[in-house]
Amino acid sequence: KPRALIDPFQRAITYLRVSVTDRCDFRCVYCMSEHMTFLPKADLLSLEELDRLCSAFVAKGVSKLRLTGGEPLVRRGIMNLVSSLSRHLQSGALSELTLTTNGSQLEKYAAELKGHGVERINVSLDTLNPDTFRAITRWGDLDKVLAGIDAAQAAGLKVKINAVALKGVNEDEIADLVAWSHGRGMDITLIEVMPLGDIEESRLDQYLPLSLARARLSDRYTLEDIDYRTGGPARYTRVKETGGRLGFITPMTHNFCESCNRVRVTCTGTLFMCLGHEDAADLRTPLRASESDDLLYTAIDEAITRKPKGHDFVIDRRQQRPAVARHMSVTGG
Ligand code: GTP
Ligand code: 5AD
Ligand code: SF4
Repeated sequence: KPRALIDPFQRAITYLRVSVTDRCDFRCVYCMSEHMTFLPKADLLSLEELDRLCSAFVAKGVSKLRLTGGEPLVRRGIMNLVSSLSRHLQSGALSELTLTTNGSQLEKYAAELKGHGVERINVSLDTLNPDTFRAITRWGDLDKVLAGIDAAQAAGLKVKINAVALKGVNEDEIADLVAWSHGRGMDITLIEVMPLGDIEESRLDQYLPLSLARARLSDRYTLEDIDYRTGGPARYTRVKETGGRLGFITPMTHNFCESCNRVRVTCTGTLFMCLGHEDAADLRTPLRASESDDLLYTAIDEAITRKPKGHDFVIDRRQQRPAVARHMSVTGG
C-alpha cells in the first residue's frame, strides 16, 4: 500500500482539490481579468488521466475529493469523471466526493451528480441582486444560478453558499444573503478576497475584512461560535434568529494554515502545495512516463516534503503585484 501523506509539520493530507478546467462561463471581477488567456487545450490532462491522478491520491489516503475550476461543470464529459470517481465512494476509500460550482449548469447536472453519490455541493453566489450579479460576474445570469440551486435542492443535494465579501459591492446585502440561505435550509460561508492573479480592480478597493462584516451582522443577529467541521477552512457560527449555520473563511485576517489538510492539482497535472505560494510540482510527466503509479507516488511524496507552513497574504497600498501571479481559476480556490 502506498505511503500516506504527512507533511513536514505533521499535518495529514486527506483533502484533494482538483481544478478540472481553468475555463469558466463567468469572469468574476475578483477572480479573473476580463480578457483572460486560458491554457491551451493540448496541455490538459484527459479525463482518464485526471481519474488516474485522483485515484493515486486516494490510494495515498485522500478521503475527501473536491472538483473545482474555473467552472468544473463546463469541462466536456465531466460526468464521466464524476461517475468513474464514485467507485471510491462505493469502496469506502472516499468519504466525500463533491464540487464547488458557480451554479450555471446545475439545472442540467444536479440529478446526475446525486445519482453518482455526490451529497453536498458548494455554490458561489455573492448577491441576490441581478444587476450586482451582472456587475460581479461581468455577464452572468442570476436567474440561471437560482434555477440551478433549486434543481440541486430538488435533487436532494445539500447546498452551501459561498459569498466573497466585497467592499461597497455586496457588503450591505450580506445579512439578507444569510437570511435567504438559511430560509432555504442552506449553510453559508463568507470569504475574504485574496490577492491572487492580476485583475483590473484594486484588491484594496475590494477587500472587506470579515471582522467588520461580522460586527455589522451582530446588529441584526446573535452569532454563537459552534464546533462544526467539514474539513474546510471555515469557522462556523450558529445564527440564533434563523437557526442556520454561518461560516467565516478568513485567509487575510486569521490564519487557518495550522490545521491545513489539503493540496491542489490543476487540469495540467500541476500540484500546488499551498494556495498562497508559487511552488509547484509537475505530476504530468511521471503520470505519462509509465503505466505503473510508482513514479507518480514518488513525485507526490517528494512534493509533500516541500509543503510550506502557511501563507501570509497582505493587501495594501504599496503592493504593486498580486501575492501570487496565477489566478484563482487555475488553482481552484
Ligand atoms: P467545505 O467542504 O464545505 O468546507 O468546503 P471548502 O471551504 O473546503 O471549499 P470551498 O470550495 O467552498 O472553498 C471556499 C473558499 O475557501 C474558497 O475561496 C477557497 O479558496 C478557500 N480556501 C479553501 N482552502 C483554502 C486554503 O487552504 N487556503 C486559503 N487561503 N483559502 C482556502
Ligand atoms: N479571493 C477569494 N475568493 C475567491 N474566489 C475566487 N477568486 C477569489 C479571490 N481572489 C472564490 C469564488 C468561489 C471560491 C471557490 O473561490 O467565489 O466561491
Ligand atoms: Fe468563474 Fe468562479 Fe472565477 Fe467567478 S469565481 S469567474 S464563477 S471560477
